[in-house]
Amino acid sequence: MTSFRVNGRDHDLDLDPDMPLLWVLRDELRLTGTKFGCGIAQCGACTVMVDGMPRRSCVTPIGQIEGSEVTTIEGMDGSEVKAVQAAWTAIDVPQCGWCQSGQILSATALLQQVPSPSDDDIDNAMAGNICRCATYVRIRQAIHDAARTLEG
Ligand code: FES
Ligand code: FES
Repeated sequence: MTSFRVNGRDHDLDLDPDMPLLWVLRDELRLTGTKFGCGIAQCGACTVMVDGMPRRSCVTPIGQIEGSEVTTIEGMDGSEVKAVQAAWTAIDVPQCGWCQSGQILSATALLQQVPSPSDDDIDNAMAGNICRCATYVRIRQAIHDAARTLEG
């Protein structure tokens, strides 16, 4: 049995502890906002928060997160993610959308740590999130816009 919280709800799951968290989120808990891209920690599409830090759920066995708090795109809340989502919408960041929940999670984590990131800060923080539609310029712009919103 593996126990952890997802988006504020307790789960006790009788599953193989080696099962990737991404499988559990999508197939067992039906939280399909987190996407499968590469499966080998190279694209960032599967990013979720584990105890407040971004993590690649495709390579995170559930046995490693016993007792942890997992937050997916469906459960994200707080001023940073609200500012990010508003900025994303304002300039139409997504194209196909597949990578975008991972992008938003990583952008939110960046703004929680660095309230006024430089272009280099953004490029470094977002380097692990690949976008096949190459929305990188709009992602960077939206992060700057969200930071300005949060500065008030
Ligand atoms: S699916 Fe996890 S990093 Fe690509
Ligand atoms: S918006 Fe299509 S992969 Fe990023």
